[in-house]
Amino acid sequence: MSEATTLLDRVQELQDAATAQVAAATTTAELEDVRVAVLGRKAELPNLLRGVSELPPAERGAAGKAANVARGAIEKALAERKSSLASAEEAVKLAADRLDLTLPGSPQLPDGALHIITSTWRDVEDVFVGLGFSVLSGREVETTHYNFDALNHSPTHPARAATDTFYVSDDVVLRTHTSPMQVRAMEQYDPPLYVVIPGRVYRRDYDATHLPQFHQVEGLAVDVGITLSDLKGTLMAFARSIFGGELDVRLRPHFFPFTEPSVEIDVACFNCTDGWIGGDRCPVCRGEQWLEILGAGQVDPNVLRAVGREEYHPERVQGFAFGMGIERIAMLRSGIPDLRLYMENDVRFLEQLR
Ligand code: DAH
Repeated sequence: MSEATTLLDRVQELQDAATAQVAAATTTAELEDVRVAVLGRKAELPNLLRGVSELPPAERGAAGKAANVARGAIEKALAERKSSLASAEEAVKLAADRLDLTLPGSPQLPDGALHIITSTWRDVEDVFVGLGFSVLSGREVETTHYNFDALNHSPTHPARAATDTFYVSDDVVLRTHTSPMQVRAMEQYDPPLYVVIPGRVYRRDYDATHLPQFHQVEGLAVDVGITLSDLKGTLMAFARSIFGGELDVRLRPHFFPFTEPSVEIDVACFNCTDGWIGGDRCPVCRGEQWLEILGAGQVDPNVLRAVGREEYHPERVQGFAFGMGIERIAMLRSGIPDLRLYMENDVRFLEQLR
C-alpha cells in the first residue's frame, strides 16, 4: 500500500468520525467544541493537508483533493447542524419568555378617591342643579365693593376688620364669603335668575370648626314674586336630599346685612344625637345640640339697588339668597368633628372617608 493510499483512508476515517460527532452534538456550544476538535489548529485533518507537500509529486494531487473534499464536507455538516440547533434553541427560549397578556398587572395600584370636600361640593351642586339652578364660579380675590359695600355692609361693619378679613390692599380682600357673586351675577345675567356659586373663601379663624380657608356654596333666586316660603321649600328639599331626612332642621330669625328678613338654618348635632352624653362639653355643638349649616333670607332691596339695573329694581323682582359652608355639611355627614383633619391630608384619615 502506498503512503498516499494510507493517507486517503485516514482522511475518510477522519471525515466519518467528524460527521458522526457533528450529528451527535446537541447544543450549539457542544457543536463549537466539535468544530475546534476536527478543524481547529491542532486537529489532525488540517495537519494532514499541510503534510501533502511532503508526498511524492505524483500523489500530491489526489491526496490534496481528497483532504479538501473532506474538509468541505465537514464544514457543510457543521453549518447545517448549527442552523438546526440554533433554531431549536431559539424556539425553547421563546417558549420560556412567553408573556401571558391576560395576567393581572403587578403590583395592583390602589384606587384613588375624591376628597370628602370635593364629593360634598359636588353632591350639594347636584341637588341644586336638580332643582333647576345653574352653577357659576367667582373670583377669590375680590374688591371691598362687592365683598361688603354692594352687600349693604355699613362702613363700620365688624366683618371689615383686619382681624377678621385678609386684606390684599385697602380695597381688595380675599373674599370672606361667596355672596359677592350675588351682585356680579345680577350685573351679568337678566332675571329670572336661579344660580348657585360654590367656591373657596377666607377668614382669619382657626379652631375645630373654623378654618382660615374653607368652601361655601352661595344660592340666589331672583324672579317676580319670590317669597320666604320659596326659600323655605327649596332649603327643605335640599336638607332632605343631603341628610336623608333623618336629622331635624330648624329655621331661626337672624341678621345679615344683605337679606331682610334673614334666617339661620340649623341641623341637629350629630355628636349629641348619636348618644354621646357630653352635654355642655360636646366639642361639636358645645351643648347647643344644633349646628348652624347656613344663613339665608330675602334679598335686601338695597342689594338689588346696588346692581344698578332697571331689570333688578326691587319693585319689579324679589329674591332669596342663602350661603352654606361645605365643610359643615361634610362634617355633619361624616361625623368627624374636627375640620382641621380634613385639610391636613393625612391619607390614613382620608381613606376612612372614601
Ligand atoms: N355670606 C354669609 C356668610 O358667609 C352666608 C349667607 C347668609 C349668605 C345669608 C347668604 C345669605 O346669601 O342670604 O356667613
